[in-house]
Amino acid sequence: MTLSIAVTSGKGGVGKTNTAVNIAITLGQSSKNILLFDADFGLANSHVLLGTKPSKSVADFLDKRCSMDESITKFSDEVSIISGGSGLTELLNLDNQRRHQILSGISNLSQNIDYLIVDCPAGAADSTLFFASACDIVAVVLIEEPTSFLDAYALIKAANLDTGVKNFAVIINMAENKIIAKRSFEKFREIAMRFLDVNLHYAGMIPQSTEIKHAVAQRMPVTISKPKSKASAAFRQVSNTLVMTPTPKTDTLKFFNNVGGK
Ligand SMILES: Nc1ncnc2c1ncn2[C@@H]1O[C@H](COP(=O)(O)OP(=O)(O)OP(=O)(O)O)[C@@H](O)[C@H]1O
Ligand SMILES: [Mg+2]
Repeated sequence: MTLSIAVTSGKGGVGKTNTAVNIAITLGQSSKNILLFDADFGLANSHVLLGTKPSKSVADFLDKRCSMDESITKFSDEVSIISGGSGLTELLNLDNQRRHQILSGISNLSQNIDYLIVDCPAGAADSTLFFASACDIVAVVLIEEPTSFLDAYALIKAANLDTGVKNFAVIINMAENKIIAKRSFEKFREIAMRFLDVNLHYAGMIPQSTEIKHAVAQRMPVTISKPKSKASAAFRQVSNTLVMTPTPKTDTLKFFNNVGGK
């Protein structure tokens, strides 16, 4: 059974890709097969933070140059990636048929996947809502800024009203400390739950960290380059909590034909 996790935010540049990559590495420390899928089509950069150069991307699959299995690049024994393709403008506006092709391609991979991590683009475009709602868990990365709150609220509202997602896991990134992060989450949850019929679960915080900045510059995930850092410990805690997020049964189409129900 595969558990799929979408990493979203609404606002750009708040740390989705860095979070997705480090969660993938962290989950790979206790599970065998982690697939990171970069759904930031045409502007994909998960592979950059991993320090790999995929020779294939989802564009090769869509143009029938390879199967979905062949579009996978192995990063380590445990972690693999499907790149969303960079500099490919034709990927920016995928139609619904192509989104379904991708969903079905990933769901029918020949290898067994324990965790699928989907790195979503900023915003709440149809493609983001499609792939986020196809995941068992939708994680929202927030930073302690009003614009991040507003955009995350807009994303949650769209995902809830357009695609029926009810449960969201919130990760506070670039946090000053644990107390302030938890307080920010509670403030955000209060606002969201006052106006929307949603459940927000706290998945934890990632500190503002120069080690993360250096790791990004060096194209080596912090959980590999600095496993004993506070940032890596935070990723371990967030990963553990995230996978415990309730996954209620829904009618929406899911990766791996999951129906939820935990
Ligand atoms: N906890 C953190 N501490 C310090 N810097 C961070 C942290 N998280 C992310 N960053 C920095 O923020 C920048 C943006 O991160 P990232 O690319 O992951 O954001 P994103 O949300 O995926 O952006 P986009 O919306 O463009 O896809 C990176 O350069 C990274 O170094
Ligand atoms: Mg990104």
